[in-house]
Parts: sequence; C-alpha cells; structure tokens
Amino acid sequence: MSLARRTIDAFLGLLFPWNFLLVSATCLPKTILRLLRERKFAELLSPSRLKEAWFSDLWGGIAGPNIRRDAAVRIIPLLQGRATKGAVVDEQVSPGLAGTVIEVGAGSGLWVDMYSEIAEVRAGSGLWVDMYSEIAEVRAEPDGAARRRKVGSSAAVDGPITRVYGIEPNVNQHPALRRAIAKAGLEDVYRIVPVGIEDLDDATKWDGVVEKGSVDCIVSILCLCSIPDPEKNIRELYQYLKKGGRWYIYEHVRCNNSWYMKAYQRLLNVFWPHFIGGCLLCRQTEKTLREAGSWEKIDVAQPVTEPWYQVVPHRLGVFTK
Ligand SMILES: C[S@@+](CC[C@H](N)C(=O)[O-])C[C@H]1O[C@@H](n2cnc3c(N)ncnc32)[C@H](O)[C@@H]1O
Repeated sequence: MSLARRTIDAFLGLLFPWNFLLVSATCLPKTILRLLRERKFAELLSPSRLKEAWFSDLWGGIAGPNIRRDAAVRIIPLLQGRATKGAVVDEQVSPGLAGTVIEVGAGSGLWVDMYSEIAEVRAGSGLWVDMYSEIAEVRAEPDGAARRRKVGSSAAVDGPITRVYGIEPNVNQHPALRRAIAKAGLEDVYRIVPVGIEDLDDATKWDGVVEKGSVDCIVSILCLCSIPDPEKNIRELYQYLKKGGRWYIYEHVRCNNSWYMKAYQRLLNVFWPHFIGGCLLCRQTEKTLREAGSWEKIDVAQPVTEPWYQVVPHRLGVFTK
C-alpha cells in the first residue's frame, strides 16, 4: 500500500469516532420527537431515561446493525472457538459456546440469532448448521444425529445450548430483543433478565435465579464499558462460571500503544460517554478480567488486523476458569 493511501487511512481512522458522535447527536432530535409523538413525557423529563431512550434508538436503529455487519467476522468465529491470539483461524482451537450461557448487556438482540443456530444442534434434530456464512444453511443429516462439521472456513459448534440469560437493564431495548428472540425461535431457551449485572442475585429486582457456579459460558460483546463498578461486578460475574467455564469477550479497552494515542483517546472520552449511552473508552477491561479470579487459560489479544491509529482498540478471546 502506498504512503499516501496509508496516510489517508490513518487520517480517516482517527476521525471516525467523531463521525460516530455526530451520528449519535443527529439521533437525539429524532428520539425527542418520537417520545413526544408517543406522549412519553416522563421519559422526556428524566435525563437518565431520555439518555436510555436515545441510546436505544442509536444502537437498535443505526449503530448496532453496522457494528454487527463489521464485527461478525470476528465474533461468530470467537463463539465457535476459532479465535486465538487475536486472530480468526479456520480450525477450531477451543470449545465453542454451550450449555447455560449469560449474555451480558444483550442490547437489542443483535447477536441472538447465533444462539438459535447453535441451539439447532442441541435439539438433536439432525441438522447441520453453518454459522459462519450467517445464512443458516441447514441440512438434514443422513443418520439424524447432531454432530460437528466443518465447511470451508466455518467450524464446529459445541452445542447444546440449553439456556441463555440475556441481561439487559435498559427496558427500551426489550421490545427489539423480544422480537429477535421470537424471530430466532428461542422463546424456550432465551430469557431476558431485566436488571443490570449488579442486581443479578437480587431476588427483589427480578423473578428468577441464576446459581453461582452454574454457568458454562459468559458472552460479553461491547458492554463491560458501560457497567457500573467494573472491578466489583466482573469479580461477581466470575463466580457464576463453573470450573472450566468460558468467558468470551469482544470488548474495547484503553489505548496503551503510544502517548499520543492515549492522549487522543482521553480527549475523545470527554465527550463519548455523553453521546454513547455512558460507554467509557478508557477502561482496562482485559486487566480487570484477568484479576477477577484465577483462570486456567487466557487466550485474549487485540485483533491482529487493528492498526496503530485505532482509537477504540478491542480485545478478543476467551478466558477459561
Ligand atoms: C454498546 S451496548 C451493546 C449491546 C450488545 N451487546 C450488542 O453488541 O449489540 C451495551 C449494552 O450494555 C447494557 N448495560 C448497561 N449497563 C449494564 C449493566 N449494569 N448490566 C448489564 N448490561 C448493561 C446497555 O443497556 C447496552 O444495551
């Protein structure tokens, strides 16, 4: 690639987050008009509820689907056990999603269909599922057995997925989340937990219970940046995992590659949380997870394709308890 091309790419990459803030800013008047139309005056008058409604419109309508389109090439392989050292690989290198799952910050249900495709295997319905293509290319197995397969660059899943708890405190997102669950045919598997993770074990806040030490997998996709008191709550969530359980992450973290990128990210972070639903850019989420408890294995890294000018750098991978 020529120097001019690389310079333009870096310039656009550095500017990209400001464009995102602009998109969010233009969404606010639409949210206000919608709330007026729907006569939801209490939400309009409460800054925190207005912020939730605004974020919900931004994420569900504009930002989320774009992120899903761009990040699916990493996240789907991650959940299939095909991500290692920040890279997606053809062969399965670790177990995929299975059993009882907690999805932290489920949002509008952008990723719900992934569970459905894995759950097909659980049903023992004799179906083969190609998640990577994202088109559920479902074929009947000759002997009716649910089994692993590899097709092209797609890889095996380790179903069954028996239960998913989708933790989502922002009730504005629930209608879209419910639609995603219904569309995926997961009403019997996927349960919305309408509280923040800090209240997961509070029986007065929701009418269910998840036992500590009972969860096979935790999935966190771009949400640990928004939770309160991350050290305490991530440590708490760690306790829900069984021994051998896996925590799959795709999260953005604090820049640590150069002083100018750190400074630039801090500057951006002055505005970012106000426009992006309280999301904080400078969290050290990987470090917090590493320190949450003892791990048998950690295979987490920055995606290898991310350049030096990535103002919102990610961590991709799996913590195994
Ligand atoms: C950036 S969105 C990501 C949503 C989803 N994971 C996705 O990728 O589309 C972050 C989500 O975390 C949720 N969240 C905020 N505070 C939370 C908390 N205390 N516990 C669990 N989720 C929380 C927000 O409501 C929001 O839906």
